[in-house]
Amino acid sequence: MERGFVGILTSGGDASGMNATIRAVTRSAICHGFKVKGIFRGYEGLINDEMKEMSTEDVSNIIQRGGTILKTARSKEFETSEGRKKAYEVMQKENISALVVIGGDGSLRGARTFAEEYDVTCIGLPGTIDNDLCGTDVTIGYDTALNTIVECVDKIRDTATSHERIFFVEVMGRDAGFLAQNSAIASGAEAAIIPEDQTDSDQLEEFISRGFRKTKNSSIVIVTESPNGKGATYYAERVMREYPQYDVRVTILGHLQRGGSPSANDRILASRLGYTAIQALLEGQRNVMVGIRNDEVVYVPFTEAIKKNKPIDKSLIAVLNELSI
Ligand code: F6P
Repeated sequence: MERGFVGILTSGGDASGMNATIRAVTRSAICHGFKVKGIFRGYEGLINDEMKEMSTEDVSNIIQRGGTILKTARSKEFETSEGRKKAYEVMQKENISALVVIGGDGSLRGARTFAEEYDVTCIGLPGTIDNDLCGTDVTIGYDTALNTIVECVDKIRDTATSHERIFFVEVMGRDAGFLAQNSAIASGAEAAIIPEDQTDSDQLEEFISRGFRKTKNSSIVIVTESPNGKGATYYAERVMREYPQYDVRVTILGHLQRGGSPSANDRILASRLGYTAIQALLEGQRNVMVGIRNDEVVYVPFTEAIKKNKPIDKSLIAVLNELSI
C-alpha cells in the first residue's frame, strides 16, 4: 500500500537514545510501507524546510551514538502562530502526513498546540534526561544520564574521602528531582536536595541535623540545578558561612550528563517506543505520546503528558535518609 511520508524530528535538549529512537521509527515506518523524512534542527527545520528522505541505511550504526543525527533546537518561531503556519505549509508541500516528535515537555507542548490548530497527526516520544513527562515511568535518555552521574559521583567520593570534605554536586533536571534523588540513592550519597521536597523545613538544616559527619569523614549531597539560584553553590556558601568548621567544595556536572553512548535500557526503551510510534499511526492514533508504564507501552494524550509536576515517589526520600546514616 502506498502511504505518505512520516516526518521525524528531535527537539529541545538532546538525550542519549534519540538516535536509537530515530533508527526505530525509520525502520518500522519503512517496514510498513511509509516513506520517511528526517527533519533537521527540530521545529526550526520544519519551518525552514530542512529535511531529507531517510533510508534504512541512513540509520545504520547510530543505535550506540549519543546526541542526535538530526540535530536539535528550541524553536522560538514555532511558539508563534506565524511559525506554526509556515510549518504546516511545509508539511503540505513535502507530503508529510504524520509527524513523530522526539523531545521533552516543551517539544510536546508545541506538538499539542500545532495539532489543535491544524489537522495534523503528531505522535510524541519522550526524549529527555529530566524524566519529567507524565504518564510514562521513564523517558529516553534518563537512564544513561543517571548512570553518568553515578560514575562521576563515585570518582568525587574518592577525593571527598581523602580530604574529608563535603561535596555539593549539582545535577540537571530543570525543576524535577528524579536525577538527583535516584543518583543519590545509587551512589550512596548522604543527601539529595530536590525541588519536590521544598517544604517549610529547610533540606540543608535537615541534613545537618541528621548528624552528618558524626560517624563519617566525608559527605556528598546531590542538588538539583535551580532556576532561582538555589543550586549547589547556594548550599555550599551557606555551609561555609554557617558551619565554617567544614571543608566544602562544589562540582557542577553540567552538559556532560547529556552526552555519551546510551545505556542498554535506553536503547531498548527507544526501540520499543519508536516501533510503537508506527503501530500508533497504523491504529489511527493522533496526538498522543507513546510512554511506558509497568513495562507496558501506553498511549498518553499530550495534555496529560505535559502536565506540570510529575510526582516523585516520596518513599525514595525515606530510602535515602535511612540508608545514609
Ligand atoms: O531539559 C534537558 C536539560 O538538560 C535540563 O536538564 C537543563 O536544565 C537544560 O536542558 C539545559 O539546557 P541547555 O542545553 O539549553 O543549556
